[in-house]
Amino acid sequence: MYNYIGKLAVLHNAEYELAFAQALATRLSVPLYHSVDNKTPEDFFLCWRDGCLKLLDKDLLKKGGLMVDIDPRQGEQRSWPAPKEGALAEAIGRKTRTVIDATTGWAQDSLHIFRMGYDLKCIERSPVMLELLSDAFKRLQAVDWVTRLALPVPTLIPGNAIDVLAQLPDTPDCIYIDPMFPAKRKKSALPKKSMLILRDLLGDDMDREALFEAALQATAKKVVVKSPDYALPIGGKPAQSFKSKLLRYDVYIKN
Ligand SMILES: C[S@@+](CC[C@H](N)C(=O)[O-])C[C@H]1O[C@@H](n2cnc3c(N)ncnc32)[C@H](O)[C@@H]1O
Repeated sequence: MYNYIGKLAVLHNAEYELAFAQALATRLSVPLYHSVDNKTPEDFFLCWRDGCLKLLDKDLLKKGGLMVDIDPRQGEQRSWPAPKEGALAEAIGRKTRTVIDATTGWAQDSLHIFRMGYDLKCIERSPVMLELLSDAFKRLQAVDWVTRLALPVPTLIPGNAIDVLAQLPDTPDCIYIDPMFPAKRKKSALPKKSMLILRDLLGDDMDREALFEAALQATAKKVVVKSPDYALPIGGKPAQSFKSKLLRYDVYIKN
């Protein structure tokens, strides 16, 4: 489904062994470069920097690049489990135990859910995001509090969640979805660079309604949908809705 030819390349530098970069380029069927200039046709690059796999566009080549950030968000308690507070926790619920994030992306919601102590599995279909996530979950495994508490890091499941959810061995209490909606408003706050890059590379998730239906079928108790505040609720009137800055968490309860 994904063809990154002409769009993405792997950039090798001294920080990582050539064999790893070659293997990554082969897995994604993209070229491997040792340097990039104005004539390079691709707009996006994967490269190891500062001990992480990073995604860069041409703007970011001289800057840091984007990796899946495994550190707690600003204001979040740095202990485990972090308190189940805020709109996301209210939507998921305190009695919920098992959660599947069906649209993991940069895993910022997943990692927040993990840090609040839920038992989490993560689905992602984009091969590039899967590479970045797998690098991040390896880094997470080595974090001191994860090692000290012997916490299992979330399981990463590759594939289209519509198919994966139809074949789950265990039914989760809650399925969480945050698909990409078309950007709409002129006056909205600028999306983060990480989300802009994701939209450029992957496009909008046009099958989000089918994903919602698959999630409702597959959940034991509820589906939580994260939406921009301007978007109509994906599954009609939700049972509950929790608002946060410029977004909502709509909760659908399974009958
Ligand atoms: C808006 S991003 C999610 C951002 C994420 N909540 C975070 O905190 O970083 C949407 C992601 O879901 C993935 N996605 C969308 N539909 C999917 C599907 N049907 N199956 C698997 N992954 C999907 C996209 O590839 C993209 O990486």
